[in-house]
Amino acid sequence: MAFKTNKGATAQSDAEVTSRVEALLSQMSLAEKIGQLTQLGVAEFVPGQKPEEVIRRGGAGSVLWLNNTKRFNELQKVAVEESPSKIPLLFALDVIHGYRTVFPVPLAMAASWDPAVTERSQTVAAREARAAGLHWTFAPMLDIARDARWGRIVEGAGEDPYLGAAMAAAQVRGFQGKQLGASDRVVACAKHFAGYGASDGGRDYDPVYLSESQLRNVYFPPFEAAVKAGVGTFMSAYMDLNDVPASGNRWLLRDILRGEWGFQGFVVSDAFAVGNLVMQGHARDGRDAAFRALSAGLDMDMASNTYADHLTGLVEEGSIPTEIIDASVRTILAIKVRMGLFENPYTDEGLLAEVVALPEHRQESRFAAQRSMVLLRNEGHLLPLSKTLKQVAVIGTLADSKTATEGSWMVFGHVPAAVTVLEGIRAKLSNATVEYAPGPEIQRDIASWFDSFGGDPKKEPQTVEDSEAAFQAALVAARRAELVIMVLGEHANMSGEAASRASLDLPGRQEELLKAVVALGKPVVLVLLNGRPLSINWAAQNVPAILEAWEPGTEGGHAVADILFGDAVPGGKLPVAFPRSGSHMPLYYSRNLTHSPEGSPMYNPRYWDGLPTPLYPFGYGLSYTTFSITNLNISAPQVKVGDVLTVTADVTNTGTVAGDEVVQLYIHQRAGSDSRPMRLLKGFERVTLQPGETKTITFQLGPSELGYWSTNVGQWLQDAEAFDLWVGSDSLATLHAEFAVVR
Ligand code: GLC
Repeated sequence: MAFKTNKGATAQSDAEVTSRVEALLSQMSLAEKIGQLTQLGVAEFVPGQKPEEVIRRGGAGSVLWLNNTKRFNELQKVAVEESPSKIPLLFALDVIHGYRTVFPVPLAMAASWDPAVTERSQTVAAREARAAGLHWTFAPMLDIARDARWGRIVEGAGEDPYLGAAMAAAQVRGFQGKQLGASDRVVACAKHFAGYGASDGGRDYDPVYLSESQLRNVYFPPFEAAVKAGVGTFMSAYMDLNDVPASGNRWLLRDILRGEWGFQGFVVSDAFAVGNLVMQGHARDGRDAAFRALSAGLDMDMASNTYADHLTGLVEEGSIPTEIIDASVRTILAIKVRMGLFENPYTDEGLLAEVVALPEHRQESRFAAQRSMVLLRNEGHLLPLSKTLKQVAVIGTLADSKTATEGSWMVFGHVPAAVTVLEGIRAKLSNATVEYAPGPEIQRDIASWFDSFGGDPKKEPQTVEDSEAAFQAALVAARRAELVIMVLGEHANMSGEAASRASLDLPGRQEELLKAVVALGKPVVLVLLNGRPLSINWAAQNVPAILEAWEPGTEGGHAVADILFGDAVPGGKLPVAFPRSGSHMPLYYSRNLTHSPEGSPMYNPRYWDGLPTPLYPFGYGLSYTTFSITNLNISAPQVKVGDVLTVTADVTNTGTVAGDEVVQLYIHQRAGSDSRPMRLLKGFERVTLQPGETKTITFQLGPSELGYWSTNVGQWLQDAEAFDLWVGSDSLATLHAEFAVVR
């Protein structure tokens, strides 16, 4: 079946888009309009589906969970040649951190503090996804997460709205390009709107209770940044937000998203979320659910068919005016017109293989992985390791796991092809003996429904005997080695959706094995593969070198070896604090002061059974070189409300090798309409410096950095108050200046 390959759509003016949309709308029946609001779940592993029948009568506007170019073309042919108005379908899938070439998970990309790298990564992901025939990805995930028990922390940019907003805009640019329509880009989707990361107890899907100021000052900024970057779609979250489900939440979807932010795209629900409004105890039945969701501003029903089943009746009885239907249909048609789908609905089935073979794709993945890694400890400069090592033991079941290396949220049908850490080290030390011992297995206590969609083949739980044998075998390998590299952490299915956990300790017997290996007295390096912060208290005191490698993607093993052996210098910083215990959650640096702050005479420790401070703070990360940050200057001791203060500081590489530093700027407003956090990130820049080199970093502090939404006054404002500011290499920065905002 020969199809025209997908070329870019010519850029179309808003007026052209509008007139084409109106022309289409005028010829559509109500049934077809409702079809455009329906996204069909089509998964190849579900037998007996007949999507052609639905598409032929114009009953669907989009298809998700399908990942097959040939099938895309077949279904598209039905839509554009046989349906009443010949409207092409939008094919959608979760391309979160790579399609075939897998990039570090988003939490890792945030740890790079390098929006340009994140943008480039999602550009490659878009190129591969579009070459496969996909038009729309359900990414970026923009949920701020301050509770590492929540499994989906892996999919976002961590705890901070300023870093999260920078990564949001970079990902939208990467996926969509400068404007929708290029043949190697896809429509992005800002999700999950909003507040999903604050679910009670870190338990996925559980209700969320957030004040308006927390929503507006912490959880909204990445979403608003996505709108400013031109994101084409939004996805509403599953859970109740302050007792109103996000998918039926008019305040979120109409007042904020469209009313305040001027969002012009369309909103899709999360999977089955419209129908779920009944389950959530919000809607009486499907008809009520359809009424509430569409009235609240939810344009497209993902996979629940609730709109398809009930909207016709609601319109015919006069409960929903056709204007509401038309308004939603317009937003969907506009995206299809801008994407050029009417001119080029099909995909060349040979294109993907060509695109995936581009060498720069894996090069970009390896580079992104190198930049995302965070050096947490390096006592005695154990790292970088020498390439003259002759006998090395690599221990830990994750060391040779392709899925653990690529991480969670792989697209349907993806076959992990990652270079594992073991393979990366063997490639780097080709003349050495690199012995591998997996040690005891680790696995979830409770399986996840998602495990049935891929990942490692299901294994029976390891017997106690086999676990002990593996434990002892690992010690034998360690005894034979000059140096031991322990690869510990979590499997890919231990974070992600439906993967929350109550503890943040290393799962299974990993820490026990680590202690036994360290007790042998050999040099030990710990490499962490994980999708969330872990409370590695013992390791932090007893293992000389610790590298946080996250879930680094297809080239992860090479990138880990590059860092361990000095072919790349670690420069990443933590986008979320590492706590001492899961019971300390939620934990975040930008907290308000109290009447008894740390260091005050009356200071009372927040827990009497241990330190409340993070094991590793937000923004923390070491390098193989050292840096000094000096010469902090501000353009004036005071600045008028609405004006901009310029801040400069010098960063110098005071070590002997080139390296990267992330210079960070934090502010504190000392008093105001509301209490303000003791520190807030309001600027960062990652710079590469040669030994002895100095660069001056410049930051601008204006209304968007100094203003906030006030609970007391109920609006955005900028107080005329005194401020502290610090510039440094993490959230504990000490280089200080002060200034005042005046009227
Ligand atoms: C899932 C996720 C969402 C994803 C959607 C479609 O349940 O919550 O992030 O995009 O369904 O796969």
